[in-house]
Parts: sequence; structure tokens; C-alpha cells
Amino acid sequence: MPVKVSKICCIGAGYVGGPTCAVIALKCPHITVTIVDLNQSRVDAWNSPDFALPIYEPGLVDVVRQARGRNLFFSTDVDKGIEEADLIFVSVNTPTKKSGVGAGFAADLNYVELATRRIATVANSSKIVVEKSTVPCRTAESMRTILEANSKPNCRFDILSNPEFLAEGTAITDLFKPDRVLIGSLETREGVEACQSLAEVYANWVPQDRILTVGLWSSELSKLAANAMLAQRISSINALSAICEATGANIDEVAHAIGYDSRIGPKFLKASVGFGGSCFQKDILNLVYLSESLHLPEVAAYWRQVVEMNEYQKRRFSKRVVDTLFNTITGKRIAVLGFAFKADTGDTRESAAITLIKDFQSERAFVNIYDPQVEEEQIWNDLSEASPLIPIESIKKQVTICHSAIEACKNAEAVVIATEWKEFLEIDWEEVYKGMNKPAFVFDGRLLVDAEKLTKIGFKVTTIGRPSAVAA
Ligand code: UDX
Ligand code: ADP
Repeated sequence: MPVKVSKICCIGAGYVGGPTCAVIALKCPHITVTIVDLNQSRVDAWNSPDFALPIYEPGLVDVVRQARGRNLFFSTDVDKGIEEADLIFVSVNTPTKKSGVGAGFAADLNYVELATRRIATVANSSKIVVEKSTVPCRTAESMRTILEANSKPNCRFDILSNPEFLAEGTAITDLFKPDRVLIGSLETREGVEACQSLAEVYANWVPQDRILTVGLWSSELSKLAANAMLAQRISSINALSAICEATGANIDEVAHAIGYDSRIGPKFLKASVGFGGSCFQKDILNLVYLSESLHLPEVAAYWRQVVEMNEYQKRRFSKRVVDTLFNTITGKRIAVLGFAFKADTGDTRESAAITLIKDFQSERAFVNIYDPQVEEEQIWNDLSEASPLIPIESIKKQVTICHSAIEACKNAEAVVIATEWKEFLEIDWEEVYKGMNKPAFVFDGRLLVDAEKLTKIGFKVTTIGRPSAVAA
């Protein structure tokens, strides 16, 4: 008989574990959900009386407000969370390895392994252990080996893979109405029963026909495959944007035209300064590493190109800024609007803005940065990590963090839009123009602003996927 889940523990209160399990708590008032994390300040923020949560996600505060203290709890007591739960989500970070075998490609599974070992040590009763973090194929098998080698008598561990497909910025709507929930299990009787237990949890709000059950390995690979295909779409449209800039075609029109083909569809065709986020690059590099390990070099090269195209797109954009500003930006002030990897999130992982600013720094420009959500400390951390050889004091001489778009643009030669925050649409551009040095340039890396309107004000506007106004 499948276990009826009444207590869930989620290890990892990050961008995935936090929102996912908060929504489970909201939708399943009969289940007690405890989200545990080793990071005290993160947990404190989740518990803060004024709901100053550690991550910014539209709609999240509302969910936490309704469920926290009722059946949703945040704690640093990882062991207690594990002990009490009958189902445990492992939702810890899996960054790309920085050293050792597979450095730069393979996922660092250290956090997954530590969490798994903790489950094995602490559990005194049977558990369903659910791999939620995006991991390379066959991680579940390693988890199973660790758990089985360390389990106590009468303690069964069933492993499931349940990758999360939410996108940041729309996490809550994605979780409320997911395109699908994917659960992978072993095809044994116990595996299938564990799968049913988890499916029952989701069935509290997700229609049955959207809950897909597959084998463990298919589930793990599907997550990598979905992200690789999505990222490939962006690299494809970005590759086309380079052709548009060189020929006079308009990438927005091209995307619109091809998106009408129902086989292609209109979504995820927005050319940009390059994709960021914690998943796309990491997952593709994972796929590259997997392909190489499987002796499939052509497959590895194919996927690697998606990441290389993304790097090219960022470099190409920085170069376009320099070229347009009369081939030098040394000593010039550039306002970068947006630092997050996309709008509606405070997350900066792999954000294109970081690369652009690093390029501007190495050209010895001054950079003003404004982002509505990213914390100042995070920006300094990211910039120092991007240039490990430059002391932070030197970075701070070149870079200023501003508190509004208007302030960032003051006395600048150029504005670079790096994130598609809606508020950049509502800026008083006339006011911005007045405060800038002339000629005043705008570089729209997000196809956000109305180029014609800005041109009328007096700006020289350069847009991704359109030929340069100056050159035209
Ligand atoms: C992605 C997947 O969408 C999600 O299913 C998975 O669970 C995690 O990875 P996320 O990285 O949060 O989600 O955001 P997403 O909306 O996919 O955007 C990723 C990057 O691509 C962002 O930098 C975004 O600006 C960029 N992007 C997206 C484009 O440049 N053009 C587009 O058309 C869409
Ligand atoms: P994601 O975007 O995948 O959610 P994050 O980095 O935002 O990744 O969150 C992962 C969280 O997991 C972090 O807050 C980290 O402190 C936590 N974590 C990592 N290892 C453990 C562990 N062994 N036990 C508890 N929490 C952990």
C-alpha cells in the first residue's frame, strides 16, 4: 500500500525548495511541511515577522503568509526535520564543479551527498527520498547506494526523482498551474508505490493528466533535456539576431513570423543579451560532460555550442557598445540598468549583466548600476568573483551602485538595459536624456524600450537584433 504522506521535510530553503514546498503547504493543509537549511540567516529571513523573505518572487509572500505557522515551518534543525518526515525533498544546491575531475562541466554533488548521508545517519524509520535539485543522470542511484549502505533495520528508503520546472519570476504561477509534474521511480513494486504517494500529494491541486510518471533515469534526463532545449532556442534566436544586425532585418519581426508556425510556437523567442540563471548553462554543461563520459563527442560538441553562442552574444553586445561609442569607453560613464538574470527576480546567478560590466571595467569605463531587487552586497560579491585578481577597493573606484534608474543615468554617456524590468519602461526618459552627456546612447539588450520614441527624444538607440541607428 502506498504511504499516505502527512509530514514532509525539504532540505534546502533556496529558490527551488522554498517556493515549491511553501506551495505544497498551502495546497495541502493536512500535510505538515518543514523546510530546513543550514544557513541560519536564510532561515531567519523565511521566518521574519515582516515577511522580508530571502528571495524575491511575485506572490511568494502571500503564500508564506497564509501557510507559515499553520502547517509550514522553517528551521535549521535539519535532523529533527528528517526524523519526523515520511517524505523528504532534497533541494540543495548543485553548482558546476570548480576544481577536480569534470571541473567547469560536471555538477558538484557534494551538497547532495552530504544531505543524503545526513538522512542515512538520522532516519529511524522508512522514508521516501525525493531528488528535487537538478542533478546529472544516475544521481538517484548514488543516493540509493549511500542510503542502503547506511540504513538501520526496518528502515526502507525509496528514491524518487521529481525535477522542478518552475522558472524564477513566475515560480508561484508555475507551481499553481504546472504544465506537468514529473515523477521518476524504479519500476519495482515499492518504487511504484512511493511514486503513488508523491503523486497523491500533487493531486491535491494538479489535474491527474498533468502528473507524469516515468522511470528514474528518464526523469533525471528529462530535466536536463528540457533546459537544454529551452536554452538552445534562445541561442538560436540570438544567433539569428546577429544576422539581423548585419542585414537590416528585425529580430522581433522574424521571431513573430516564425512563432506563428504552430510547430515552433511563439514563446521563448525573445532575443537578448544572453541567457543567465542557475540552470541553463549548468545543465547544458552537465549534458556535455555526460555525453563525453559516454564517448559521444559529437553530441557533446552540439550542446556545447549552445553555451558558446551565449558567450558570443554577450561579447558581441559589449563590443557593440564600445564600437558605437567611437571605439573607446575609457573614462566614460555607462549606466547599466538591471543586474538580475531576468526580470522579477533578485537572483543574479550567471547574469549577463556581470559579464557586460566586467567587459566595461576592463575597458576602463566607469559603471553605474541600478537594479530594483538585487542587494548591494550581492552585486559586490558577483563583481569580485568575476574578477578575482582585482581588489574590491579598485572595483569600487570604477563601479557605483545607484538607488534609481535616473540617478544611475546622471552624467552617463550611455545606458545599457541588461534586464527587462517593467519599471525601465516607465522611466521618465526625457528626464534621463536631460541628465546625460551628449550624444546620449541607449543600448537595449532586452528589446524592451520603444526605440522610435527614444530616438525622437534625441537618444541614439542601439537594439539587439536591429542594425545600429548610427550606422544606418
Ligand atoms: C529555467 C527554466 O525555464 C525552468 O523550467 C527551469 O526549472 C529552470 O531554468 P529560469 O532560469 O528561472 O528557468 O528562467 P527562464 O525564464 O527560463 O530564463 C532563463 C534565461 O533566459 C533568462 O536570462 C532570460 O532572460 C533568458 N530568456 C528567456 C531570453 O533571453 N529569451 C527568452 O525568450 C526567454
Ligand atoms: P536552488 O536554486 O537549487 O534552490 P539555492 O542555492 O538557492 O539552490 O538553495 C540551496 C540551499 O540548500 C541553500 O540555502 C543551502 O544553504 C542549502 N543546503 C545545502 N546543503 C545543505 C544541507 N546539507 N543541509 C541543509 N541545507 C543545505
